[in-house]
Amino acid sequence: MDFNEKNLAIRLSGMRIGNDIHFFAEVESTNDVLFKLARGGAPHGTVVIAESQTKGKGRLSRQWSSPPGCNIYASIVLRPAIEPLYAPQITLMTGVAVADLLSEYCTGAVTLKWPNDVLIRGKKVCGILAEMSASERGGVDFIVVGIGINVNIRKMDFDESIRNMATSLAEEAGHNISRLDLAAKLFDNLDTLYTGLMDSGFGSIKDAWLSYCDMVGKQTQVIFKDDIASGKVLGIDDFGALIISDEKGKARRIIAGDASMVKD
Ligand code: BTN
Repeated sequence: MDFNEKNLAIRLSGMRIGNDIHFFAEVESTNDVLFKLARGGAPHGTVVIAESQTKGKGRLSRQWSSPPGCNIYASIVLRPAIEPLYAPQITLMTGVAVADLLSEYCTGAVTLKWPNDVLIRGKKVCGILAEMSASERGGVDFIVVGIGINVNIRKMDFDESIRNMATSLAEEAGHNISRLDLAAKLFDNLDTLYTGLMDSGFGSIKDAWLSYCDMVGKQTQVIFKDDIASGKVLGIDDFGALIISDEKGKARRIIAGDASMVKD
């Protein structure tokens, strides 16, 4: 097994994201561990990785299944000088970094589903959970970006409740993948996109995100708590909201929820 603290430290040494790495056999949640480290001043690019999580967190207070020995559970702290309103750009950027990465193994089969699921052939392979801390001045202090990638887990090892909706990179590529290689490439992709975002703005990341998203122009339903919004997807805005055109043709911004395609 090459996926361990020593090999990660060697492989990530000198990288802007991953040079400071904390590896654990088991934690409750890598996001929670890193959030505490970031509050204590952990620098931009610090990474927490765990072999398994006992309380892996998903979006909308869900759990993220995190068995040992097969997947990547990683959190990265970023310290962008932006206003909190723009924080969703960091989540969308992460989606693009993962989609670029997985496309190396499954060319043309990777899509992004708003707000930020990464799918291969329509099945979820990766989830992203970003958690922000704002500074007293009102800017972003830091963002902890949590990434869970199903790498080598086999279909039969998924919980029955998600077996038909989830997949792994190995299942889709047809062979096991080195988690060490994958983690190193992921942090490199993230660093490149982050530098581009900070230097040149959101435009090219938004274009890349939309190029991976197959929802545009399609009839979609978004459920959030008791609200159901339906309409044709027009795109996303610079604040990460989904823009749909409702039945009266009026554009509506959706800021959270679970999206699913509906037949026209
Ligand atoms: C989703 O619901 O799609 C988001 C899942 C995010 C899971 C990752 S695994 C690493 C990090 N630590 C957590 O507790 N959650 C994120």
